[in-house]
Amino acid sequence: MKKMTEQNLINAFGGESQAHMRYLHFANQAEKEDFPNVARLFRAIAHAEFVHAGDHYRELKHLDGGFVANSMAAFGPGDTQKNLSLAIAGETFEITEMYPTYIDVAKFQDEKLAQRSFEWAYGTEIKHKELFEKAQKAVESSCDVELGKVQVCEVCGYTIEGEAPDKCPLCDAKKDQFVTLKKYLRP
Ligand SMILES: [Fe+2]
Ligand SMILES: [Fe+2]
Repeated sequence: MKKMTEQNLINAFGGESQAHMRYLHFANQAEKEDFPNVARLFRAIAHAEFVHAGDHYRELKHLDGGFVANSMAAFGPGDTQKNLSLAIAGETFEITEMYPTYIDVAKFQDEKLAQRSFEWAYGTEIKHKELFEKAQKAVESSCDVELGKVQVCEVCGYTIEGEAPDKCPLCDAKKDQFVTLKKYLRP
């Protein structure tokens, strides 16, 4: 694998892994503030980031050893309003800078599987940003967000509120590959 694409996969694995963990902590905080739907949204999206991290990780199975992952981690957690801002900033970075660049490099280097993994994440993060913005509007008025069931494609992480489509718009997986997150990973 070409070195730049390989490093980008390592960085993306780091970024997705940390987003996964951040969102689980944000979910617990939202629950403390009595925003159960915001908590459920964070847990569902945490699961999507877990899927992305796994997709990137699998493309690195040729490696052996330790590597430095350079990711844009968001530090300084706070209340749910602040945590939603951190989440939106992270998703925005991924959509406007990170994944478009990683996709272009992978295309240029003809690394098709890495490109696909980046494209799946990119397509999903757009949905995450929309969902977090919806939650932010509610929390700004001190209300929990109105939220239908949130479903995540186990293949590519695609996240949707409401019924899962017959075929995933990103990876073509069938409807039965979508999972609904309710109380995922609450310790
Ligand atoms: Fe995301
Ligand atoms: Fe999918």
